[in-house]
Amino acid sequence: MSTTADTADHTPVFSVDGLWKVFGPKADRIPGDPELAALGPAELRARTGCTAAVRDVGFDVRKGEVFVVMGLSGSGKSTLVRCLTRLIEPTAGSIAIDGEDVRAMDKARLRALRRHRAAMVFQHFGLLPHRSVLDNVAYGLQIQGVGRDERRERAAEVVAKVGLAGLEQRRPAQLSGGQRQRVGLARALVVDPEVLLFDEPFSALDPLIRRDMQEEVVRLHREEGRTMVFITHDLGEALKLGDRIALMRDGRVVQLGTPEEIVGSPADDYVRAFVRDVPREQVMTVRTAMRPAASAEEAGSGPAVRPDATVSEAIEAVARAGGPARVLDGGRCLGVVDSEALLDVVAGVTGAPAGGRAAGGAPGSKDPGAAPAGLRAPAALATTGEEPV
Ligand SMILES: Nc1ncnc2c1ncn2[C@@H]1O[C@H](COP(=O)(O)OP(=O)(O)OP(=O)(O)O)[C@@H](O)[C@H]1O
Ligand SMILES: [Mg+2]
Repeated sequence: MSTTADTADHTPVFSVDGLWKVFGPKADRIPGDPELAALGPAELRARTGCTAAVRDVGFDVRKGEVFVVMGLSGSGKSTLVRCLTRLIEPTAGSIAIDGEDVRAMDKARLRALRRHRAAMVFQHFGLLPHRSVLDNVAYGLQIQGVGRDERRERAAEVVAKVGLAGLEQRRPAQLSGGQRQRVGLARALVVDPEVLLFDEPFSALDPLIRRDMQEEVVRLHREEGRTMVFITHDLGEALKLGDRIALMRDGRVVQLGTPEEIVGSPADDYVRAFVRDVPREQVMTVRTAMRPAASAEEAGSGPAVRPDATVSEAIEAVARAGGPARVLDGGRCLGVVDSEALLDVVAGVTGAPAGGRAAGGAPGSKDPGAAPAGLRAPAALATTGEEPV
């Protein structure tokens, strides 16, 4: 843990350590029993009749980041995210929100947590069929005891924010799937929660609407800097939305890192197989391919790219210029990238910069408190001049 004066700014929104959720008879004994805890899922079920849906998981969700939990069906994603607000009671481990122990909360405190601080957006929107869009959105405020006029006013604002202005009086049945999901999103947003929890909210939507909704999330994140925990089994969605991704398998987090770390430095063969078909040049940044400038001349001329430009963007800049590009950060030349190094990244010869790590390491090995990278907005291309790509 950092001892610097700015520690307060880095208090994670959620801090999870050694978390277990075991379903089945005498589930409590599993986490503390090294022999049982080490069994694979099938053996554990055969020996004890139990399923360890979440196994010894630890991570921090930092303020303002989109933290993605990804994994195949049954890997434990929903169980994990429901444990955060104790919609499912954890079997062992610790959970804190803003430093407050969630497992020690009484009923009233938990209710307040779910209503005000951590709002959930579900896959099946759970809308009230006989209420209008506006009333569905205002419902969260109603159970908070907010007065009628104020809640309608606030609900109308949020309805407009998610792009549903004009549809306030419709019933859910009169909406498309994407519109319904926007109502679900608005309902979570209206209580102005510190963190939004999404459990595969878009998986029932068709691809185009899904992309719209992903862009909505990116926009909300960019404009409001809201902290989000986003579950998906879709790798493309994870890479698009996540500042960091926790990749789960059989209840464990097998790797936790930025999209670039996961794609560039898979922690094991499972992750490698998972990310094999990802177009690396669209995820990896020029930092991966950068080398020091060979001369003052090289540092002072040629096209410029930002350090967070993707390899794909840099390839275009280098191809147009016919020579290396400079990586500029606020006017400072960090290094250069040439076509050879960029192609090495595409070919998988070069890995990501250090930082991706396999999870489940020693206690206290949670990620260092680097600032979230922010969402990777596609950067406009500049071929020459001082404005980096
Ligand atoms: N109430 C329960 N009782 C027993 N086992 C459960 C229970 N809920 C979940 N499980 C098991 O825990 C494991 C993890 O389930 P979970 O729903 O968290 O997976 P998931 O990653 O969200 O999957 P999906 O992508 O299909 O939603 C699965 O093996 C599941 O069968
Ligand atoms: Mg699930």
